[in-house]
Amino acid sequence: MGEGVLTGPATADVAALLADAGLERRGGSLVMAGVPLSAVADSVGTPAYVYNADAIRARYAELDRALAPVPHRICYAVKANANLAVLRVLRDLGAGADIVSAGELARALAAGFPGDRVVFSGVGKSADELRAAADAGVGHVNVESFEELELLGAVAAEGRRMIPVGIRVNPDVTTDTHPYISTGKSGIKFGVPTDQVLPAARFIASHPQLELTSIAMHLGSQLTDTEPFREGIGRLLALVGEIRTAGITTIRVLDVGGGLGIRYGAEAPMDPAAFAAAIVPLVQGSGLTLYVEPGRFLVGSAGVLLASVLYRKHSGGKSFVVVDAGMNDLVRPSHYHAYHEIVELETAGRDVVRVDVVGPVCETGDFLALDRPLPALERGERIAVLGAGAYGFVMASNYNTRRRPPEVIVQGGRFAVARPREEPDALFRGENPTPLD
Ligand code: LLP
Repeated sequence: MGEGVLTGPATADVAALLADAGLERRGGSLVMAGVPLSAVADSVGTPAYVYNADAIRARYAELDRALAPVPHRICYAVKANANLAVLRVLRDLGAGADIVSAGELARALAAGFPGDRVVFSGVGKSADELRAAADAGVGHVNVESFEELELLGAVAAEGRRMIPVGIRVNPDVTTDTHPYISTGKSGIKFGVPTDQVLPAARFIASHPQLELTSIAMHLGSQLTDTEPFREGIGRLLALVGEIRTAGITTIRVLDVGGGLGIRYGAEAPMDPAAFAAAIVPLVQGSGLTLYVEPGRFLVGSAGVLLASVLYRKHSGGKSFVVVDAGMNDLVRPSHYHAYHEIVELETAGRDVVRVDVVGPVCETGDFLALDRPLPALERGERIAVLGAGAYGFVMASNYNTRRRPPEVIVQGGRFAVARPREEPDALFRGENPTPLD
């Protein structure tokens, strides 16, 4: 598994992790883009998500530069971090958006993405969602099954509008990542199997309101090896060849999905230059525009979750640090056994002890770290959970009727609240204790 396991690695590369996030130590204080994170925590309280807009821009520029030899578009996967301020940063850089629901479409449009820079992916889009996509004039809809394609055809016919279509292929490529986020292997729910691609292309070509403009894949998430991309692209290009031979010559885009892995502990993340070196030669000469759909790569390292130590306790020979952020705020450790580095906001030169960092939620599976060597934290001290910019807030819930944390954006020495902490009354607004009366 690319991101290590919860209890390891023994030697996370903390210096590199801090650099990835645009974090530095100034006199022991953790500083993000010129802003001491203690000042953010003092201002908005904890738990709180903080995102470094400068780090997001740097990541985007790195990937954009690497892909410069081919015509390309970076379509940011909105699901990774859907905050409007984050979306606006990426829109302003010229990114497109990869979305998977009508809600994400509304967000992308609210953040100012032009409809034609939006790609609509996802295995279970409803008729209403397909209509909303058509109304917004999305760049293309990536279909994932024949039945979805038939429905899309009906939606296009009822509105008498042309809808550009991509076929998301399941290229049957094996990836080295957590099984929950491996999506390009046959026998899982995603994509159209290769033997059904040509019939799907024929259906699209024969429909007066559909045009086949793209062929797509998404192999999985947190990938650190370029080989699966090469293998998958090889299969997509072979299919493009077959489709062209069948007389269908409208494909303009090769969409290779997202999945570029980042550093959470000691692993080597995907290097954009190596990624480009592996795939650009395959794309050159195809006459196609390359689309990539990274989420985590652009925003994952740029975000931290701030939390405060509530209590310490010892039980059954173990030491626990109870913090105010739980699995409802950041579910990745408990859901995927994902490793997230934890650092102090202010260093105090304390001894290192092995602790479980646990949250307030009433589940034994509510933890941020297990058996983790950390400086002996005291009550009231604050920590930053690194690598929390992707699949953090977006996967947060109100479990245990807890308010979701605020989201703060930082750049060039300033910070601002991009979304406030949920209000207590928002937790049951709209509910009726006696609906049957
Ligand atoms: N494109 C499609 C069609 C996707 O389904 C995804 C992610 C992406 C792009 C972006 O993948 P990324 O570049 O961020 O790896 N909640 C999990 C990750 C789920 C990813 C789902 N699809 C986690 O916390 O690791």
